Amino acid sequence: MTAAGEGTLPYGTARPLSHTRRWRRGVVQEVAPAGVLDLGPGYLEPALLPVGLVRDAYARALEEYGAAALGYGHDPGALPLRAELAARATVRGRSPCGPEHVVVTAGTSQALHLLATTLARPGDTVLVEGLGYDLGQRILGDCALRLRRVALDASGMVPEALRRALAGTARGGEGGTGRTAFVYLTPTHHNPTGATMPLERRLRLLEAAAEHGVLVVEDDAYGELGLTDGPPAPPPLAALAGHRGVVRLGSFSKTLGPGLRLGWLVTEPALAERIASHGLFRSGGSLNHITSLAVAGLLSDGGYDRHLEMLRAGLRARRDALLDALREAADLPVRISRPEGGFFLWLRCGTGLGEDELLARAERAGVRVTAGSRFGGTREPSVRLAYSFNPPPLLERAARRLTQAWSGGPPDRQIGGNP
Ligand SMILES: Cc1ncc(COP(=O)(O)O)c(C=O)c1O
Repeated sequence: MTAAGEGTLPYGTARPLSHTRRWRRGVVQEVAPAGVLDLGPGYLEPALLPVGLVRDAYARALEEYGAAALGYGHDPGALPLRAELAARATVRGRSPCGPEHVVVTAGTSQALHLLATTLARPGDTVLVEGLGYDLGQRILGDCALRLRRVALDASGMVPEALRRALAGTARGGEGGTGRTAFVYLTPTHHNPTGATMPLERRLRLLEAAAEHGVLVVEDDAYGELGLTDGPPAPPPLAALAGHRGVVRLGSFSKTLGPGLRLGWLVTEPALAERIASHGLFRSGGSLNHITSLAVAGLLSDGGYDRHLEMLRAGLRARRDALLDALREAADLPVRISRPEGGFFLWLRCGTGLGEDELLARAERAGVRVTAGSRFGGTREPSVRLAYSFNPPPLLERAARRLTQAWSGGPPDRQIGGNP
């Protein structure tokens, strides 16, 4: 436990030094310039990615399934993985779920693309959060869907606002243009705000969607990353709805690593079957077949749950280090919400510093942060800080730099840099 809190996970990794050197541009998606403390991306830091665990899981899958691990996979996904995921969906949400409810995807991003091309036609409308995961919305936009923003508050999307938006559009999804194909939202450990929607709000939201017969797409990428010792987050919308009228998107990107490109969707069986009959699966079989078998092994032998426990401890230590260090600075002109899970702190500034100024000062101090406006409309200048991508000591250093930069003091650039 302490290992993850302090920095690394206690799995054996071959030649860790050379692995670190390979974390570079041209191999991975984003690398901050040397010396910059990167609180920008929603990534796990390299030391939290379980290289040894995954290496062994691939070896075991090849041993157990032999050539079948290298064949075209069963279209909706290999049964061992779907059975494990269905059992977990049943336990978490207390709503019965079998493999027939599950389709394996190449992560949430690919699942969104799949839904945008199977359940909607160009010109259809998708109702999205007024402030939400920008890149998910971009995938929908790239499929020529129109995005209409629905107001959200500190508890997430506002049911009355959803009702009003639905009343203003016709239901749809079967072709034609201008109709509402679905609602897309992240009710648990929201990106960027970290908020989790309370149970009562979830029920009212489902009621509004059901009244208008519109499908809800629930992005649950951070659903397994609750960080409180108190009561867990309410059940997913999908479980509350008995998997009817909701598609829940899950991902291993935020727990095992985005390089696996492995996720899943859970929905009513007829819709799952319809989605899995897409030409993509008929042609290529299931997505990431060998990875599915490797991860199914980790789910069944308890390795994934043990990893999750360490990961949560590591993330909790990171969240608290950043939050406490920022809160220590009494004169810091920002308000910070304490997230119950996920990767992000959400900071709002109410005292005159504009977003551009917050970003420019952070940059000059050698800290990368993400502009709040990237995610939609913000009432006040805001920034998102990811605590997932640095160990606690570097997060504390980043907090000191931000505190000085935003409080007007001289930036603390002379203290070392990123490892
Ligand atoms: C809310 C949300 N959904 C989806 C994703 C992307 O997930 P995946 O890697 O499974 O495509 C992210 C990553 O930042 C996210 O924050």
